[in-house]
Amino acid sequence: MTPLNSSSGKPDLTRRRFLRNTAATGAALSYSKMAAHAAGPSDTLNVALVGCGSQGGVLKTSALRIPGLKFVAVCDLWEVKAKSMARTIGSDVKIYTLLEDMLKAHPEIDCLLIATPDWLHAPFTRMGLQAGKQVYCEKMMSNNLDAAKDMVRAQRETGKLLQIGHQRRSNPRYQFMRNTLLRQKNLLGQITTLYGQWNRSVKPPFEVKGGIPEDVLKAHGYKDMFEYTNWRWFHKYGGGPISDLGAHQIDIFNWITGTTPRAMVASGGLDYYKDRMLPSGKGKFSYEHLDTAMVVYEYDMPLYDNGVPVMEGDKPKTNLVRGLYQVLTTNGSQNYYEKVMGVEGTIAISEQPVYNQVYREKDTTSGKIGQWEALARAGYIRKPPATIYNKFWERPVAWHLPEKWMATEGTQDVRVSIPADPYELPQMPKEMDEKPPHQFHLENFFNTVRASGKQTDLNCPVSEAYKCAVAVLNINEAVKTGKRIEFKPSDFEVA
Ligand SMILES: NC(=O)c1ccc[n+]([C@@H]2O[C@H](COP(=O)([O-])OP(=O)(O)OC[C@H]3O[C@@H](n4cnc5c(N)ncnc54)[C@H](O)[C@@H]3O)[C@@H](O)[C@H]2O)c1
Repeated sequence: MTPLNSSSGKPDLTRRRFLRNTAATGAALSYSKMAAHAAGPSDTLNVALVGCGSQGGVLKTSALRIPGLKFVAVCDLWEVKAKSMARTIGSDVKIYTLLEDMLKAHPEIDCLLIATPDWLHAPFTRMGLQAGKQVYCEKMMSNNLDAAKDMVRAQRETGKLLQIGHQRRSNPRYQFMRNTLLRQKNLLGQITTLYGQWNRSVKPPFEVKGGIPEDVLKAHGYKDMFEYTNWRWFHKYGGGPISDLGAHQIDIFNWITGTTPRAMVASGGLDYYKDRMLPSGKGKFSYEHLDTAMVVYEYDMPLYDNGVPVMEGDKPKTNLVRGLYQVLTTNGSQNYYEKVMGVEGTIAISEQPVYNQVYREKDTTSGKIGQWEALARAGYIRKPPATIYNKFWERPVAWHLPEKWMATEGTQDVRVSIPADPYELPQMPKEMDEKPPHQFHLENFFNTVRASGKQTDLNCPVSEAYKCAVAVLNINEAVKTGKRIEFKPSDFEVA
């Protein structure tokens, strides 16, 4: 396979070609289904949303861009949220505060989108599946593993579709990186290290005046409005930053390696959000979760050659990969991204397209420069314009050290390593570049529904999300005990 357009000799990254480039493994199967099942007028799917907060809004906006969907109802315990969400969709959208009422009143609902706090994902998913709905539920699938297991079982029992919102798995840039550059072209050589971070600045808590009456809150399991609006930070309702933010990227570690970790060690704590003054000055607050966490996972990563796993006897050949992940909530330096590092180079990627850097290691002896140049000529990677050479830290800026001295190919100084050779991921076709990141994952879900597809056609079936939940939720235990956790493959399966 080559991405060259045979008539012009230019890189052909049209939408079809880009998708074909991602098709080295089954991950892109859903895209061919997507193409085959573009909505016709009779294919309208009736959709309902529960949880009309910020992520509910993101899902709604992305879903409204997809042809053939009709929002019939929205639900939120806080009625004003449901009302304002409905207003942004259309006058015929019905409003509910209880999910059971919405499901009873609208048997015509085909698909349920769930964007409530994490502790409600399991009961709401079960309720939706048992009512015969196909369910798209946000990550983290749950803040406790028993509830997460119940979601896997509820899907099996009902046979309905259940996709979890780890949307990077459906992102064409991520698919192109994993399937084409890593597995097919082996661009980075032996992968040794993964890195991921989500660094966020200090953020004041929400202090809401009024809101939901206290007896209603209590009847629905919430202590008060402070915990209701700051639910992420309390054990009962969420898994804290490591699960809220880390879940996305630790899921990507599993997805890139194509396996689950064999072990992990972690350090972290509630270092900052303890006994702090409320912004209003009316008293103090403390959170319950780790606000800082650093984790190292170990993976036995299967090796690929030309898109096919390399076998050693009847087992895939593997090599050790360490994945370092950190979440900070006290400093937002360099924000969030993931890096894949191999002996031949590095790829930095994020949902923010500003992270799309690819670096060739200059001081390897494998002579892969020819392969990189050929891939660049064919459009698999591209040379960034000189003006943005310094946008990441791999290449020190000219004013810091004399550019000529630092950049000399093949010259190694004992005080500094030779800088890497910068490339970038290719530009996506325009119509794909314009889509919000969640749209691809929703399209994968809705088109699997339309095509009467199976769980395995989903890019993040609940069983895959469960593996991420095991890797993430065990961090608390690893931090508490300070001990290394060894996993068995069966720890990631639900009996
Ligand atoms: N995939 C992503 O990129 C992404 C990004 C952000 C959040 N999320 C996930 O989306 C979910 C929601 O996060 P958010 O940031 O929108 O939180 P949020 O607090 O802004 O919204 C949660 C909404 O749920 C409502 N709610 C609470 N209890 C309810 C109940 N019993 N019945 C009905 N509604 C209820 C709240 O009133 C609120 O409107 C979380 O699971 C979060 O992890 C995913």
